[in-house]
Amino acid sequence: MKKIQSVRGMKDILPSDCKIYRSIENILMSSAIQFGYKEIRTPLLEDSELFIKSIGDGTDIVDKEMYTFVGSKGNSYSMRPEGTASCVRAIIESGSSNTINKLWYCGPFFRHERPQKGRYRQFHQFGVEFTGVESYEADIEIILLTKYMWEKLKINPKLKINTIGDSEDRKKYTKNLIQYLAKYEKYFEDDDKQKIKKNPLRILDSKKESIKNILIDAPKISNYISKGSALHFEKFVDGLIKNDINYEIDLHLVRGLDYYNRTVFEYIDNTENTQNTICAGGRYDFLFENIFNKKVPALGFAIGIDRLIEFLNYDINYNENIKFYVAVLREEDFAYAQKISGEIRKYSDNFSILVDYSCSNLKAQLKKANKLEANYCIIIGENEAAGDSIQIKNMNSSEQDTIVLNEIGDYIKTKFVL
Ligand code: HAM
Repeated sequence: MKKIQSVRGMKDILPSDCKIYRSIENILMSSAIQFGYKEIRTPLLEDSELFIKSIGDGTDIVDKEMYTFVGSKGNSYSMRPEGTASCVRAIIESGSSNTINKLWYCGPFFRHERPQKGRYRQFHQFGVEFTGVESYEADIEIILLTKYMWEKLKINPKLKINTIGDSEDRKKYTKNLIQYLAKYEKYFEDDDKQKIKKNPLRILDSKKESIKNILIDAPKISNYISKGSALHFEKFVDGLIKNDINYEIDLHLVRGLDYYNRTVFEYIDNTENTQNTICAGGRYDFLFENIFNKKVPALGFAIGIDRLIEFLNYDINYNENIKFYVAVLREEDFAYAQKISGEIRKYSDNFSILVDYSCSNLKAQLKKANKLEANYCIIIGENEAAGDSIQIKNMNSSEQDTIVLNEIGDYIKTKFVL
């Protein structure tokens, strides 16, 4: 019989890892809120056209990686491979494209890639989109937000930046790049030839040494950038310097999604991982116009949370709950145990209370409390239930007190900073 198991490239995030995800997400979320961003939640499923028109035909994501299916009425739907296109659609659909929008989102995304460390078929992104501001100041602010996040996470990934100009600049550049590459056709493998045919700029970030060598003398996009784009980039770089942000200009940085123009950037971890881009983004001033016929300048970035966690190496402080384990010795006292648990929960959101329903002997229940790393064990036996009281044992010091029900509040207030 077929063994049922999780789908390849889609992993469970078990409770011990969930707390790492949650604490990182909380840091990213509170940072974005401090920069004026508001949360948006878009559907996991969208009309496939949205991604084809935004990310672009000829990109790996659209050509090979989308989970797409046809609905009963013949419409094609895709699981979202990224969040920018959905935000753009949502802004248009909600009628808010005339105002400035600062949105953040966090959740699962889907790409049918070859799974490996740091690369999954269901992965998690924390992203922001900032729409309605054309000025380079917005580009600087977005980088300041990432800097703020890295400081809170106590990491220091390397920032790479580039400008890819506007679409006219890119057209001219692409034409010359193709002409240059044609001279080396015999050195390219089939997949490279496909890339050059469909999306020539993608060849620039090839990891193959042979191609890197060919590219040394290739035309540079920086020579094709219009005055406006060049000035935008210059002022952006100047802002980074003024804000003490370290960066490296990487003329080969082009990004794998078609919608970008002008500023593009990536943060790379500086460990040995092969999948090392933990955050990426840039401007997409023409995306609204191309899909919805509305001119709205915009920019944003997304952080790959799974990669970030691998990069962080789990070196993070959690805001741990204070755990109470409730040991109940007789079945008839479960209702009393639940009443006591409810009473304690009221005092702090940070209290986590677990009732033992096994009715096993006290020693066994204390052993379980220990195993679960409970901070306190509340003991309820015949005497406690009869006397409206509890015994509370500090699992660290083994100190044990008897408290009557109407004094629980005072007891908690003296023991904990609430
Ligand atoms: P992206 O470069 O495709 O950009 O993805 C952003 C980040 O998501 C990557 O740098 C990486 O950390 C993570 N990521 C991507 N694919 C995977 C995967 N298969 N497994 C694990 N992590 C992955 C975007 O998605 C753009 N929407 C970013 C953006 C927002 N640009 C403007 N606004």
